[in-house]
Amino acid sequence: MIVGRLGLGGRFLRGTPSVIHKIGRNQACVVPFSISVAECYSNTPFPINHKEAQEKKKLEEMPKWRQWGIYFQSQEFKKSMTVYYLLGFGALSVCFYYYMRDRFYEDKQLKEIRLKYDEDPSKLSEYEYLMLKAFSTDKLKPKERKKFILYQMMRKEFRRKNFFDYNAVFNPSPAELEDWYSKQAVRSTKRVPLNDDTEEEETSTKNADNAHIVPGSDTTEFFEKKAEQYDKEIKWEERAVFMGRRRRWLMKNLRGDVLEVSCGTGRNIPYLDLDNIDSITFLDSSSEMMNITRSKFRKAFPKYQKAAFTVGRAEELADLASRSSVKYDTIVEAFGLCAHQDPVKALQSMAKLLKPGGRIVLLEHGRSTWDFINNHLDFRAEKRMKTWACRWNLDIGELIDDAGLDITYEKRVHLGTTWLLVCKRPEDPISLEEKPFYNKLFGKDVPQIKKA
Ligand SMILES: C[S@@+](CC[C@H](N)C(=O)[O-])C[C@H]1O[C@@H](n2cnc3c(N)ncnc32)[C@H](O)[C@@H]1O
Repeated sequence: MIVGRLGLGGRFLRGTPSVIHKIGRNQACVVPFSISVAECYSNTPFPINHKEAQEKKKLEEMPKWRQWGIYFQSQEFKKSMTVYYLLGFGALSVCFYYYMRDRFYEDKQLKEIRLKYDEDPSKLSEYEYLMLKAFSTDKLKPKERKKFILYQMMRKEFRRKNFFDYNAVFNPSPAELEDWYSKQAVRSTKRVPLNDDTEEEETSTKNADNAHIVPGSDTTEFFEKKAEQYDKEIKWEERAVFMGRRRRWLMKNLRGDVLEVSCGTGRNIPYLDLDNIDSITFLDSSSEMMNITRSKFRKAFPKYQKAAFTVGRAEELADLASRSSVKYDTIVEAFGLCAHQDPVKALQSMAKLLKPGGRIVLLEHGRSTWDFINNHLDFRAEKRMKTWACRWNLDIGELIDDAGLDITYEKRVHLGTTWLLVCKRPEDPISLEEKPFYNKLFGKDVPQIKKA
């Protein structure tokens, strides 16, 4: 800051308007007014000392994160901490208020929906039904979950628009959702990716509206040729993501009479515990792959008699079911749905071969929970089909829904691309272990939410 007195220049600056700066007890310097004015715009009216200038330069050369670090340790920052704390607390309080206000509306609406459901379930709108199911112990099906997420996104916008309207109730019709969704900018498809039950098409690999999914084809020939190399080529890919752990989980679920569909080269055999099962049947459409499974199994369990090795297509299991009385307690499949021509039909066939209370246990790979991964899967879909005869961008949840199965256990790993699933037929009750914690603890049933 300039501390000075206005005057007229002395000996050297005669007649020039000047500012007299005091620089010591008995010393002063006269600076022409024009220079002083320029200095007024600068932060350093007096030449700063060399050390200070060097330090300043050093600081400026440091990376930004270090500069911030030094600032956070400085007295200047510490002094202003109280203000920062107060500002932070204020901002959090505002967020918390709006979050709680939103929960309040949600809870209020839920109470009304429950009353409506008790009166007449058919009166519920689609959103109300999904909301009721989402907040109950009954699980949303994968397609329902997807749709509910869209409704929730629409709801956020609705709440923003009706910020001050305390009585506004969010309850759009499916058509309104469709309309809202079609106006969203960042979507590859402009349709709500789910249809109502009424619109059910014939089963096939719909996997709904993803145009990037390569049409299904019979991959048997590919695997006949690949069989020899398969283990060698897949080994490192699987080791890198610790797939052994997932295969162990898969094989832990086996009970009673077991059918392994698309057994490939028998990569699950090392995790098989024969003490838990009564018999095991392996099925694959490729005889070359099956030969490798057979020799691996014989080597691992030379004395085990109750094993069968069948070459056939999973889609044709339904015919087998109608011709024979053979049924299974557990049907297991690892990374097979992506290779089937019609995975929905294959799943439906498996369901027909289940004994009452039986389970289908799946370890599959498909769409991720992350959009950026899905974009990559879509982008490389054709290449993947050529190199591995594999449709890696299938939505496994949707396939299960299309096959009419219920999911009793679901876990997604590897950024959501690996699906660990236990499925059952809708008519079978869920077992005690499959119940949610609260219901298990108090021995309560899980009430099913149904629209009509
Ligand atoms: C990617 S491999 C998976 C093999 C094995 N389950 C594993 O975990 O490594 C897919 C397997 O499915 C078989 N496959 C393809 N289409 C099939 C079908 N329609 N029915 C039965 N198996 C099929 C192939 O022959 C191949 O062995």
